[in-house]
Amino acid sequence: MAASTGRFDGTVTLITGASRGIGFAIARRLVAEGGSVVITGRRQESLDAALAELGDAASAVAGKADDSDHRAAVFAHIAERHGRLDHLVNNTGINPVYGPIVDVDAEAARKILEVNVVAALEWTRAAVAAGLSRSVVNIASVAGLGASPGIAFYGISKAALINLTMQLAYELAPGIRVNAVAPAVIKTAFARALYEGHEAEASAAYPLARLGETDDVAGPVAFLLSADAAWITGQTLPIDGGAGIRPFL
Ligand SMILES: NC(=O)c1ccc[n+]([C@@H]2O[C@H](COP(=O)([O-])OP(=O)(O)OC[C@H]3O[C@@H](n4cnc5c(N)ncnc54)[C@H](OP(=O)(O)O)[C@@H]3O)[C@@H](O)[C@H]2O)c1
Repeated sequence: MAASTGRFDGTVTLITGASRGIGFAIARRLVAEGGSVVITGRRQESLDAALAELGDAASAVAGKADDSDHRAAVFAHIAERHGRLDHLVNNTGINPVYGPIVDVDAEAARKILEVNVVAALEWTRAAVAAGLSRSVVNIASVAGLGASPGIAFYGISKAALINLTMQLAYELAPGIRVNAVAPAVIKTAFARALYEGHEAEASAAYPLARLGETDDVAGPVAFLLSADAAWITGQTLPIDGGAGIRPFL
């Protein structure tokens, strides 16, 4: 765990989908730097396990990211427990389909957009209404920066999230900064199918010669949320082990 620098002392951050994986690593990092966090996820038992590790600085509300009643319950909880909200991390993302884009089921596509894009807008809108005071980070993906065979509609949703980041950054300036990160493969349950059983082969695509760990994302997200990034808004930071700079020749 990173040593406390106090960058998040006295602050409250809402992180959606944070009982494990990237969201949990972000929560752990912000708590280590003095912050309080409110985390969400669908399963109460996973949230309880996360809270056991995060300690008293964390609390949780169970629910689906695209459920408006759940969102209302989360903001009521934040108002009662903290009476303030400094930062929002839109981390929840789903990818229920795999295969060629021409075969994607339209209902599945709508669900992906609902959770990965519309819900991020709704969380941000509600956070602003609840007094959000400093910054937002959206968890996009390198899949949103180029072709992503097999997970193409997920890539489309992340491209939309990257553009939403710019739109929100423009509209919410100067009071609230909005940025995104675009990770490549990070070793979580979500991405396991992309590397399990062939990790060495998967790692060969990266100049830094390994896949990402959740803390590789948590650090840059903490930076973008913090006052260290006070003059950065509307940007998407690739976190990709150098994969994006592979030479053409
Ligand atoms: N891992 C990667 O390689 C990678 C790369 C680029 C971008 N990303 C993005 O990073 C984000 C986090 O992914 P991850 O790899 O950390 O996934 P993960 O390890 O599977 O964790 C997902 C978290 O979100 C919760 N969750 C899932 N669906 C939810 C929903 N509909 N409503 C509320 N909570 C939900 C899960 O808890 P429950 O299951 O209990 O709900 C869990 O806490 C996603 O937006 C993903 O697109 C991941």
